[in-house]
Amino acid sequence: MDFDVIVIGGGPGGYVAAIRAAQLGFKTACVDNFIRDGKYSLGGTCLNVGCIPSKALLQSSENYAELTHSFADHGITCTNPQIDVSKMIARKNNIVTKNAGGISFLFKKNKITELHGLASFNAEADGKWQISIDDNGNKQQVNATHVIIATGSVPRTLPQIAIDNKNILDNAGALDLNEAPKNLCIIGAGVIGLEMGSVWKRLGTEVTILEAMDKFLPSVDEQVAKEAYKHFTKQGLVIKTGIKIGTITDTGSGVKINFEEAGASKEESFDKLMVAIGRLPNTQGLNAQGVGLKTDERGFIVVDEHCKTNLNNVWAIGDCVRGPMLAHKASDEGIVVAERIAGQHPHFDFNTVPWVIYTNPEIAWVGKTEQQLQEIGKPYKKGVASFIANGRALGLGNNTGFVKMLACTETDRILGVHMVGPFVSELISEAVVAMEFMASSEDLARIIHAHPSLSEVTHEAALACDNRQLHG
Ligand code: NAI
Repeated sequence: MDFDVIVIGGGPGGYVAAIRAAQLGFKTACVDNFIRDGKYSLGGTCLNVGCIPSKALLQSSENYAELTHSFADHGITCTNPQIDVSKMIARKNNIVTKNAGGISFLFKKNKITELHGLASFNAEADGKWQISIDDNGNKQQVNATHVIIATGSVPRTLPQIAIDNKNILDNAGALDLNEAPKNLCIIGAGVIGLEMGSVWKRLGTEVTILEAMDKFLPSVDEQVAKEAYKHFTKQGLVIKTGIKIGTITDTGSGVKINFEEAGASKEESFDKLMVAIGRLPNTQGLNAQGVGLKTDERGFIVVDEHCKTNLNNVWAIGDCVRGPMLAHKASDEGIVVAERIAGQHPHFDFNTVPWVIYTNPEIAWVGKTEQQLQEIGKPYKKGVASFIANGRALGLGNNTGFVKMLACTETDRILGVHMVGPFVSELISEAVVAMEFMASSEDLARIIHAHPSLSEVTHEAALACDNRQLHG
């Protein structure tokens, strides 16, 4: 089979790149080898064992927490509320299956050839790359002018102990527990640790998070991280920072962990351990070395600002290249690459990539933090507005947190927006649009925001940049 473009990897980077390439008129194939429940399943980590299933469980657990903790304030009571964890997991699995089928549907609609198996580079001959695909021993070769590598990432593991997804879990295991463990230790207070810790804490698990760094969420704006920490610990998450992990023993009935905290040696036992210490680029099986594909010392495929690798007509996007490991970053790079192959000149701006952590309160940001602006010596002013008296937030019963806007002192151009509070995962888009259009804080201050809405807090933060907040 001969193609114009073959995409290796069917996650949010790869499948979006394939659709855009097909839209642009290229004969396109996408090959993927992710297996869920014994079957090939498109969508990669994000859809199968990442972003989407975790959001399903975050919602289910949040509903349960509301029922047991805050519905009484609305006058809604329920005797003996129960959570059926296996039903919750089945609902999550249904969502994943539906969405994975949706990608296959989109492939058919766009006349993209869907292939499954492990893809690896053979050689370049007559201006085409020969890619061999191994589907459990059934081998075939396809040829393509352009190759887009979108092979994603795999969880980083600890040298002390291997993941078995029984007592020692990674993200996939923590999404598939059939009952809430009595207690759970999570190593790594990053995005996955906090999201999955929240899920199981809301369902009654005692959660302890052990973090190596001294500072909590060091890449998040300090004021936001402090506010989030306050709420997470109030919810009962035990978060220990500055921890040095020692030996870890799987006792069969649980996990014993030795660690050092403030110079003192400690040992604690848990039912389960989840390891969430970051992810590594996945380039296994590609035969990268065989064809001279350049990777850096950490295993990331080396690309230029247009995602071009050192090999002719070979591109790489998403988690397997530099930049944040975020699904939407991967998708956008996929679009940019397909359009570059078509001779267009799209650009990718790392400074306007939004970040979201789906805890309660949610955390979202775009652009520079205050600390980053101080480091580069950029003069800035800030406007901070709280959700505390916002009518919509009060109605929702969730009026924690704030929006902070940072703008250049000289030009008033928005440099960063940092949010912690209800539905800030949605509110952040306004800030992204504003920054993409190089808006000033005054531009946002002059825009009419619906009343009552959470977005009024963003409006107030923009007004506060000029010391003219109306409700503060
Ligand atoms: P992460 O990089 O967010 O956090 C890992 C944490 O583990 C860090 O705080 C790090 O200091 C700590 N750590 C590393 N080694 C340790 C050790 N030996 N002992 C104790 N702590 C240690 O990585 P995470 O949470 O595993 O997520 C992986 C990737 O997936 C991230 O890049 C993240 O952006 C992405 N992701 C994004 C989501 C979102 O956008 N909402 C959701 C889930 C994952």
